[in-house]
Amino acid sequence: MEGNTARIWWKESVVYQIYPRSFNDSNGDGIGDIRGITDKLDYLKSLGVDVLWLNPVYESPNDDNGYDISDYRAIMSEFGSMDDFDALLEGIHQRDMRLIMDLVVNHSSDEHRWFKASRKSRTNPFRDYYHWWPAEKGVPPKRWSYFDQEDNAWQYDETTNAYYLHYFSVKQPDLKWENPKVRQEIYEMMRFWFDKGIDGFRMDVIPFISKDTSYPELPASYDGDFIAYYANGPRLHEFLQEMNAQVLSQYDVMTVGEAPGVTLDQALDFVAEDRKELNMFFHFDLLALDREPGEVFKMRKDPWKLTEFKAIHSKWDQVFEEKGWGSIFLCNHDFPRSVSRWGNDTPAYWRNSATMLHTFCLSMRGTPFFYQGEEIGMTNIRFDSIEDYRDINTLNAYHKAAHNCDDLQAFLENEKDASRDNSRTPMQWNSGENAGFTQGDPWIKVNPNYRTGINVADQEKDPDSVLNYFKKMIRIRKEHPELIYGAYQLLDEDNQKVYAYTRKGKEKTFLVLLSFTEEAAEFSLKDIPKVKGQLVISNDHAPSQLPEDRIVLSPYQAAIYALS
Ligand code: GLC
Ligand code: CA
Repeated sequence: MEGNTARIWWKESVVYQIYPRSFNDSNGDGIGDIRGITDKLDYLKSLGVDVLWLNPVYESPNDDNGYDISDYRAIMSEFGSMDDFDALLEGIHQRDMRLIMDLVVNHSSDEHRWFKASRKSRTNPFRDYYHWWPAEKGVPPKRWSYFDQEDNAWQYDETTNAYYLHYFSVKQPDLKWENPKVRQEIYEMMRFWFDKGIDGFRMDVIPFISKDTSYPELPASYDGDFIAYYANGPRLHEFLQEMNAQVLSQYDVMTVGEAPGVTLDQALDFVAEDRKELNMFFHFDLLALDREPGEVFKMRKDPWKLTEFKAIHSKWDQVFEEKGWGSIFLCNHDFPRSVSRWGNDTPAYWRNSATMLHTFCLSMRGTPFFYQGEEIGMTNIRFDSIEDYRDINTLNAYHKAAHNCDDLQAFLENEKDASRDNSRTPMQWNSGENAGFTQGDPWIKVNPNYRTGINVADQEKDPDSVLNYFKKMIRIRKEHPELIYGAYQLLDEDNQKVYAYTRKGKEKTFLVLLSFTEEAAEFSLKDIPKVKGQLVISNDHAPSQLPEDRIVLSPYQAAIYALS
């Protein structure tokens, strides 16, 4: 095989992520639900996407919006019933689309029956489903927690005079994968969903599942980098290979791991075909680009540079040149909106930067993932007041900052760019009340800019809209397999205004030009070998034939030329 060209459906798919709580409310309680998604299947099909990924819809007390699961085989009552789910799955398959679900098995909810039993006594048969540290041994070695007000991942529990481990909130105790019974329970639960007919899983913080159960002090080599420590547990790959052998290999499904802490040189251990673990994962290098070093939720002071953005994507592309497969995404439910973050959401540049970013995602190697609302260019809401926030992450961090007497105004300013709630505001369907999301009171505020063109109904009518460009760009990716499988080559690497690259297949080569600046940007074409270059798509006026010597791109212009 020359290059990475073995064709498989999940490499050719475009994935659309749905955050059910914020997608579409069918019964007026202000909370999006499963029937609401089913009602929008024709819309989703019209986009040209192939796979839908649903954030967790399982029974949950919602400490972390469904990422704290109390019953893996039941549907959250706020979202509907199992019958609703079955109807959704059927509707998706009828339209020749596929469904992947979230698999959240690093932790459960503390309200899961396993944990309720586990905490009852030290001899309970479920005791060893979780990580416990008996208090008579003293205070356990430090472990950091993402969502704990004191950053402490060990929670003291009086009933049995012991601490339990929670990498996320106190209501998200970590499951003990080292116990073979836990693994069998999880595999059975996965089969339950596959036997229903779902087409894959997105695996939540999957590199964290293996732990050294002697719970040593953090080795000095991980000083200050607990995420890398969490992602490198001793039995991780053994567990993933077992899961693949016992479950995944029995079905025609796709898997994508969420992979904080996984580095370039470790990537193929997860996704090389001969490893038989996962198909692809989300790396975190881009997500860290505009953050303080080692801080997931703190914005860095100086602006990120285009050369850094290019370097990240070029390095990751290289990893998958011959083996394995990657993913491309600019946004999800944990990070702010892509156009606000990587483009420019001021009115003058909003449209072109949103469509330029679509051109990028849909012309790179790797499976592209879009988050709901990205197709219409939804933007950050930038709440002014802590009262408007709903996310446990922002709320806990605020309490911590208040407790430490930090500058709360500065904290709120940071959240305007960093908070996860920026991407969790309701989907904007039309210019009617609440953007058509609900007849009731939405659980979180709607971004008022739905009234000024950022909504589906208005954009469906406008041939030049972000939405119609998105659909067109998906069609172009599908018409030209070079955009999926072709070799990637970065051009003019030091250019701080233009990101340019080629995608070269056996017969055709495409040139992709992307402006990331508010200024007009000149790009030299002298060194590009071409007989003639025909315009394939642009979000702005572009010459239909590629000029010989240079091209001037307007602010945030994107253009693709076929070089033949
Ligand atoms: C992942 C999810 C995030 C959740 C966390 C804990 O990062 O994407 O939303 O809070 O895991 O489950
Ligand atoms: Ca509802």
